[in-house]
Amino acid sequence: MLGNSKEILLDAKRNHYAVPHFNINNLEWTKYILEEMEMLQKPLILGVSEGAIQYMGGFQVVSNLVKGLIEDLNITIRVSLHLDHGTSFETCKKAIDSGFTSVMIDASKKPLKENIEITKQVVEYAHSKGVTVEAEVGHIGGSEDGIPSSSTNARLDECIRLIEETGIDSLAPALGSVHGLYHGEPNLDFETMKEISEHVDIPLVLHGGTGIPDDQIKKAISCGINKININTELQIAWYQEVKKFIEKNNSYDPRKVIGSGEKAIKEKVREKTEMFMNR
Ligand code: 13P
Repeated sequence: MLGNSKEILLDAKRNHYAVPHFNINNLEWTKYILEEMEMLQKPLILGVSEGAIQYMGGFQVVSNLVKGLIEDLNITIRVSLHLDHGTSFETCKKAIDSGFTSVMIDASKKPLKENIEITKQVVEYAHSKGVTVEAEVGHIGGSEDGIPSSSTNARLDECIRLIEETGIDSLAPALGSVHGLYHGEPNLDFETMKEISEHVDIPLVLHGGTGIPDDQIKKAISCGINKININTELQIAWYQEVKKFIEKNNSYDPRKVIGSGEKAIKEKVREKTEMFMNR
């Protein structure tokens, strides 16, 4: 069942666990994740970046792909289709008008006042359509869709202002995690994470879930994180298997080549979900 992420995340907040957000890149990725999460009978947030949407053909393609798979595969779990790092009001509106049930507006590179103005505009439109909104404070660095950027950590007062002045449903405070691979050990600011979660009453989101050791993920959940985004780790798991397959086989059938990574994606989805949700 496709719906917004409000109840999914509020339940996670009430019961102190994190819902997995897995980024999708193509038909196979989406199918494998849906199938595995249906096996596990756990709620799911499917994240799609603007780059992945463009790659797949557009907003309508992605929305219809997800709806079609939910129907044809008889998926019964709660699924939210979420625009990851929407860069403007127009992009968020396009996603909402195409059937996305959740959007992230990421105006975190702009000064806070401007971030608030854009986020507020998105919230007004999204909420009028029953769609939930995530926003970012501070700036999460690293590399996403091949675009590198540097980090700035969030401050408690900024988080409170953004939430109070916009009415967002969830917040991604940048606290040291990065998109893509870490150079050295991740350095998360757990103290501020805990402080923010004690002062705000909406679910918190951790971006850049790849490469954060399990004990730090557990600590983040205990400090109030209710959604964890994973992208790169699934890509690496898939790539390692496909590489082996190509080295060993002489098959040019794309179903066999791409499909050789199915098991690896499913195993990673299961491992992450069990860790995030079984406290
Ligand atoms: P990773 O690519 O580091 O897993 O991060 C994913 C993410 O945060 C998507 O928003």
